Amino acid sequence: MSVSDPIDDFRRAGYAHTDWIAGYFSGVRRRRVLPEISPGEFAAVLPVSAPERGESFEQLLSEFESKVVPALTLWNHPRFFAWFSVSSTPPSILAEYLAAAVNVNAMLWKASPAATELEQVTLGWIREWLDLPPSFFGIIYDTASVAVLQAIGAAREYVAPECRTEGMSRDLIVYVSEQTHFSSERAAITLGFGQKNVRKIAVDEQFRMRADLLESAIREDVAAGKRPCCIVASVGSTSTSAIDPVCEIADIAERYGIWLHVDAAYGGSTGVLPEMRHVLAGVERADSLVFNPHKWLYVSIDCSILYTRRPEILRRASALGAEYIRSVEDDQVVNYNEYGVQLGRRFRALKLWYVLRYYGREGVSVMLREALRLAQVLKGLVEADARFELAAPVPFSLVCFRLRAENAANERLLAAINASGQAFLSHTILNERYVLRCAIGNFQTTEQDVRETWDLIRQQAETVLQEHALSGART
Ligand SMILES: Cc1ncc(COP(=O)(O)O)c(C=O)c1O
Repeated sequence: MSVSDPIDDFRRAGYAHTDWIAGYFSGVRRRRVLPEISPGEFAAVLPVSAPERGESFEQLLSEFESKVVPALTLWNHPRFFAWFSVSSTPPSILAEYLAAAVNVNAMLWKASPAATELEQVTLGWIREWLDLPPSFFGIIYDTASVAVLQAIGAAREYVAPECRTEGMSRDLIVYVSEQTHFSSERAAITLGFGQKNVRKIAVDEQFRMRADLLESAIREDVAAGKRPCCIVASVGSTSTSAIDPVCEIADIAERYGIWLHVDAAYGGSTGVLPEMRHVLAGVERADSLVFNPHKWLYVSIDCSILYTRRPEILRRASALGAEYIRSVEDDQVVNYNEYGVQLGRRFRALKLWYVLRYYGREGVSVMLREALRLAQVLKGLVEADARFELAAPVPFSLVCFRLRAENAANERLLAAINASGQAFLSHTILNERYVLRCAIGNFQTTEQDVRETWDLIRQQAETVLQEHALSGART
């Protein structure tokens, strides 16, 4: 630590760190997306114990650059196409910096009035952009996994309120599809539903939940004395970005009095575009809806929004207070901690506010449309090469494709692409076939990035197919 005034020290180092970030953004394409590193290799170069005496910001930044960054998977790289591509953008980064500086805890209105009210205001703005009912109450959690945990907890409160005092009932059932993100099943396990009480409904040829099979499963459960509790439908499921038939599922949920949670963690933000709003058809009938600004609304991880039309039930599922956090304003304000398991809460609304204001609806729409367009460009390239095939429809910015070859060849192809360091894609298994996934969404990704990545994929495919032919000839 420097002996100079710590605030002067901070000011100087702050400029240097900002310069580093700006340089990172402009030169990021020269870096590998995936590090070349084996498990334990990074930790092995660090001292075993923390330093006795403080060190300078210069030393820290220099080691961040020379040691930490080469060992990072660069999520904020324009050729990061794995899982769901995400973006931390300049306004979000600056807001994180400010939030850390004021270090407020958004647990109660009293604990920081602007943090609570900014959350209400920004979530109201997004509700308007997505054309959701004004009655939808919004809250920010860290992730969609926690949001679905809270949603299924609310579903239990809705269907079986006695569980709150009596403990868990063994006959409550949660319905997901074979393609629903595993966070719903994990939430059901965590809440004590039991894995055997999670029904995985089969999907159609486009990987959408079969509403007819959902209804049959519910009927069977009711006949067997079970209590259907929650259905999770997806708008943009993880493997293929499929969109479940939310309207049909909402009819079923209403018919049987079941809580409907819609997981739009990835696909939801496209509802901002009038030409894409149809993907959210029916969500106004959902009891809860999650979408992640940290996935595809240019906000740094973490930021996940849950909307519900039954805030009182969400609140009842978790609300507990203590004398030391009571305040005289309680009956006029929202105290967000009452709507979840966390008491202490980060000031996440600030980065959302920064992003919404810096880009405006126009700027956000330009970026979303570009990602959607680039996915169609890639889809066209896949379709034009007879050695490849598309593995799923492309409703958003995720392209699932594969070599027309056996699984092992596709697995080798993905490994070769990723080992090059020039791009990072991920995979899934669909109908027992190994499939490559290319998700586009980083704010710096250009058509050149997509075309050059496709060239890389084709070159690697050439090699893989040659090796494959040779090994076939040898056997
Ligand atoms: C559709 C969907 N839902 C939920 C999740 C979980 O998201 P989180 O990482 O915010 O918990 C994911 C993660 O990729 C996802 O794709």
